[in-house]
Amino acid sequence: MNTFRMTKHVVGFTFGEPVETGILMGAKEKVSLKLPLEIAQKDGHSRFSFPLTERDRVYGLGPNLGGINKRGRKYESYCTDDPLHHEDKTTLYGAHNFFILEDDDVARGYFIDFPSRIRYDVGFTSQSQFTVDIFGENFTLLVIDGENLKSIVKNFHEVIGKPYMPPKWGLGYAQSRWGYKTAEDVRRVREAFERHDLPLDSIYLDLDYMEDFKDFSVSEERFPKLQELSQELQETGVHLVPIIDAGVKIEEGYDIYEEGIAGDHFVKNVKGEPYVAAVWPGKVHFPDFLQEKTQTWFGEKYKALTDLGIDGFWNDMNEPAIFYDETSLQEGVEAAIKAQGENLGVYAFFNLRDKFQSIGNKDEYYQRFFHEFHGKTYSNEELHNLYGFYMTKSASEGLRKILGKRFVLISRASSIGMHRYSGIWTGDNSSWWSHLSLNLRMLPALNMSGFYYVGADTGGFGGNAYGELLLRWLQLSAFTPLLRNHSALGCAQQEPYAFGTEVAEKAREILRDRYRLIPYLYSETLKAWKEGGLMFTPLAFEFWGEEAQHAEDQMLLGEELMISPVTQANAGGRYVYLPEAMAEVTFKEDQVTLTLEKEGVRYMSYALDELKFHLRRNRLLPYVPPASSTRDLEVSTLHVLGYVETEGEYELLDDDGISYGYEDEKMYSTRIRVTRGEDGVKVDVKNTHPHIKRILLTILDGENHIMEKEVLV
Ligand code: GLC
Repeated sequence: MNTFRMTKHVVGFTFGEPVETGILMGAKEKVSLKLPLEIAQKDGHSRFSFPLTERDRVYGLGPNLGGINKRGRKYESYCTDDPLHHEDKTTLYGAHNFFILEDDDVARGYFIDFPSRIRYDVGFTSQSQFTVDIFGENFTLLVIDGENLKSIVKNFHEVIGKPYMPPKWGLGYAQSRWGYKTAEDVRRVREAFERHDLPLDSIYLDLDYMEDFKDFSVSEERFPKLQELSQELQETGVHLVPIIDAGVKIEEGYDIYEEGIAGDHFVKNVKGEPYVAAVWPGKVHFPDFLQEKTQTWFGEKYKALTDLGIDGFWNDMNEPAIFYDETSLQEGVEAAIKAQGENLGVYAFFNLRDKFQSIGNKDEYYQRFFHEFHGKTYSNEELHNLYGFYMTKSASEGLRKILGKRFVLISRASSIGMHRYSGIWTGDNSSWWSHLSLNLRMLPALNMSGFYYVGADTGGFGGNAYGELLLRWLQLSAFTPLLRNHSALGCAQQEPYAFGTEVAEKAREILRDRYRLIPYLYSETLKAWKEGGLMFTPLAFEFWGEEAQHAEDQMLLGEELMISPVTQANAGGRYVYLPEAMAEVTFKEDQVTLTLEKEGVRYMSYALDELKFHLRRNRLLPYVPPASSTRDLEVSTLHVLGYVETEGEYELLDDDGISYGYEDEKMYSTRIRVTRGEDGVKVDVKNTHPHIKRILLTILDGENHIMEKEVLV
């Protein structure tokens, strides 16, 4: 075992010869350290355990099922396409091996840098034991300490590099659907948004824009003039965001396929031939994204679409998802032929059925193809969790080179490290209330892994949403940097106007409120880029006590807000736990109200056309008038809400929303400070934002009195 130090708070322990995954950034200084754990290694596996007392808590593990506190479940890190993720599933689309274990004395963060399967049994088999099973003997384990839970996260972020920063338009509302089949469909969607006066910044294009599901192709028949469409939409402030899949269709004469073969870019089977799997287009080859030359090659291909005016993409099926491979399909067909005319007993029938029913994403597939990585050959299984990461790195680097400006990019599969290149959506969820509350609970763990541009398929991907569910979901997604409504082919239409005028009107109110908060959300995203740490923080990270620890259906957003969405049907509101006095804020019909609420558990009524949240004591929240597009956001008068008993300060960060200037800290800053003294309220403003000219403050005191003030800057 080798030991090293990366920062004052991060030490590492290396077992065997780990794969250089590219996740960790920064120098490693050799030191001699003792690992505060025992690791047992046997038969190619490594295992370690932590005893758990009843009070210990476990956080993290990225986009996963379960609670904010991960106890009482099993999890598996192995990127998997499983759209039906209900309670008893263990794997999802991402594999994020960062967690924090907090006991009565100490909290520590752990990160396992290992690209294949890891299983976590967090007090499931035995309530008093947390066991980690690594499917290999070569890995690096980081141990991260910090003053408190929040600083452990920040200390971890220091060694994984800065996150992807979306353009500002990426924070606008995105409408998506697998089922917008033609350019006319897309035009109709845009027009419907305009007709219903619903805010919109982008429309996502799913498979149908392509010719036979071929990456970087455009269907002549369905999208004959994509460039015109894109231009026409951009004139109304709407960006098109097409999908790109990992599998490349095998078809003679198809340029990407031909170049991939000529340039030796595809993963190989054991015989050294390009591996054949089947996804949307039928038979495909997978680019070997782990090779740098392939990253460069594929990344440049996005130009085919950026040349048509496109500046946003979603990378999909990059676990990689496999519908079937030739060997397994052949086995199934042979078994079916053999069964023909037979009187199959139950087990023989189940066996035959499973040959087809379980033919997708089989473990064996990932043993049947190989990557070249840093001069060595590995099976996909050994590097499985890096595939989506490197596809997205390829896209991100390519796009940056091609466009020279920021773009929207989200990926379905992910591991830590990919946060430097894109955001993520959390995969195929369902139009279930339970997935709405899961969406909320996942957010802090995504931030722990370094991802901030995150959101779920709002309204749910599979299954049929209905008006109330969509509105409640919008009331949560109004706070997530990525706000995208997406649904599957064959399910009920899910646009905000699909459920009648009443729902459309309510959705309009919520979305307009979202746009009022974009300057704040964008500022918090820039802060996350600058400083790392959490944007969505569990109450237990900030407040003591059992109540805070148990409050898993509400959380803090930034240092200012607490959000507590309704995640149940037929509710006119909900109980909210207030760990301290806060101001309840209601955005409704372009009005803003503010009421003081004492600490404790309170019932908060929450109508379907409002946006509600709490503003913390001695905190300020900037907002702007509602808008229908990010390009129409008007900051010349900045509104500020405050609940100030003594003093409160907020620094609003902003920039041009599109260039990479922020990397050289070319940001605008508006620092507002409100102090309450004997002689009244004093407001100080330091402003470098060229467009902010006036600040209108509404300040609440500890007696529920409101005062308004105007400051010219
Ligand atoms: C996958 C994606 C989903 C998309 C569908 C068709 O299931 O996760 O978002 O709509 O493929 O491309």
